[in-house]
Amino acid sequence: MKRVKLPLLPGLEVEFTDRDRAIRQVEELAVRGTALPMVIYGPEGCGKSALLRQATEVLRELGYEVFYLNPLDRAYHADVTMPDIKNAFMQFVEKALAENAVGRIAWGAIDFVHKVLKARKAKIAVIVDDVFQAIGLQQAAAYVKGLLNLIEYPPQSYENAVVLVATSEGLSKREIGRHRWADLTTMWNMPKGGFEELYRKIPAKPPFEDAWRLTGGNPGILKQLYQLNWDVDKAVEAIMRAKSLLEFARLLSKEEREWLAEAVEDPDTLFIRERLPLMHRLVEHNLVTDVYLRQEHLWIDQPPPQRDPELGIGKYLAWQTPIHREAVRRALKEIT
Ligand SMILES: Nc1ncnc2c1ncn2[C@@H]1O[C@H](COP(=O)(O)OP(=O)(O)O)[C@@H](O)[C@H]1O
Ligand SMILES: [Mg+2]
Repeated sequence: MKRVKLPLLPGLEVEFTDRDRAIRQVEELAVRGTALPMVIYGPEGCGKSALLRQATEVLRELGYEVFYLNPLDRAYHADVTMPDIKNAFMQFVEKALAENAVGRIAWGAIDFVHKVLKARKAKIAVIVDDVFQAIGLQQAAAYVKGLLNLIEYPPQSYENAVVLVATSEGLSKREIGRHRWADLTTMWNMPKGGFEELYRKIPAKPPFEDAWRLTGGNPGILKQLYQLNWDVDKAVEAIMRAKSLLEFARLLSKEEREWLAEAVEDPDTLFIRERLPLMHRLVEHNLVTDVYLRQEHLWIDQPPPQRDPELGIGKYLAWQTPIHREAVRRALKEIT
C-alpha cells in the first residue's frame, strides 16, 4: 500500500509517517464498512487531515469509490470510476466555490453518492475533513445524521460503505456525542517513536528530547516551531492570540483562575464536580481533551500514554500540547 506524500514545510514533502495501527484500522473498516459515520476528534495539528489523505489512498486501492471533502484547504475530489459523475461533481464544486457556498458542497456530496449508487452497486467512501466550520457548528449533528442516512437508507443497496469525518472542534464533539448517529473516536498526537521518525525528516532542529518535550508529538506544532526558528515564545503567543486567551482568563472569577493555575500543573485537578464547567470551556476552546477512556477501540492509532506530567497528560484530562498549556500559563501570569 502506497504512503501518500504530504506537504510539511515550504519545499519539503514527507511521506505519511508511522501511524501503522491507524492504517490497519482503516483497512479493517474497508472490510467491514462503518455501521455509523466515524467521527475522529483530536488535538489541532495531531495529524487528522494527514490520516484522512492516507485513508483516501488506502480505500481507493481497495476498490472504493471515494469522495473527499476538505473545505479548509478548498480541496475536493471524486475518485470515482464513472467519469460522468466525476465531472458533474467537479463542476458542481467549482460553481459552489465561485459563489462562496462551501456548505452547499458538503450537503451536495451526499446527492453525488446517491448518483454513484444508482449507477452501480459500489463500495463507497465519503471522507470529510473539518467541515463543521464550513456548514456551521449548529449543523454538525444534522450533517452527521445526513451521512448516517446514507449508510442506513441508501437509494440502492451497496457493497460496503465507509464514512470518515475529522474535526478539532471540542464543541462539536459534545454536540455529536449526545446523539447516537456516529462512532466517536479520538486520535492523539504521535507516539514517541513515530514522531522521532517524522522529526528526522526535517532540517535544522534542536535535540530530539527538546522537540518532544515542546510538541508532545504534535506534528502541527513541530511544523510551526520550525517555521518560527524554534522561537517558543512566538509559538505560545500565537496560540494566546488565536484563542483570545487574555480575554478568556479575564472573564474567569478569582476562584476559577486558581483552578486553572492548578490545572496547568496537573489537568486532572479539573475533574471534580464544581470544576467541570471550567473544564468544558477548556475543551470547547480546544485546549484540553478528555482522555479517561483509554480502551483501544475508542482510539484511532495509539491512545495517549497513561500519565505524563511533563507533557501535561493526566489520567482523566490532557492538555492538547505542552505549548497549549504554556499559553494558558502565560495568560494567567499576564493578567495578575
Ligand atoms: N503521520 C504523518 N506523517 C507525515 N506528516 C504528517 C503526519 N501527521 C501530520 N503530518 C503533517 O503535520 C501537519 C499537521 O497535521 P494535520 O494533519 O494538518 O493535523 P490536523 O488535521 O489534526 O490539525 C501537516 O502538515 C501534516 O501533513
Ligand atoms: Mg486538519
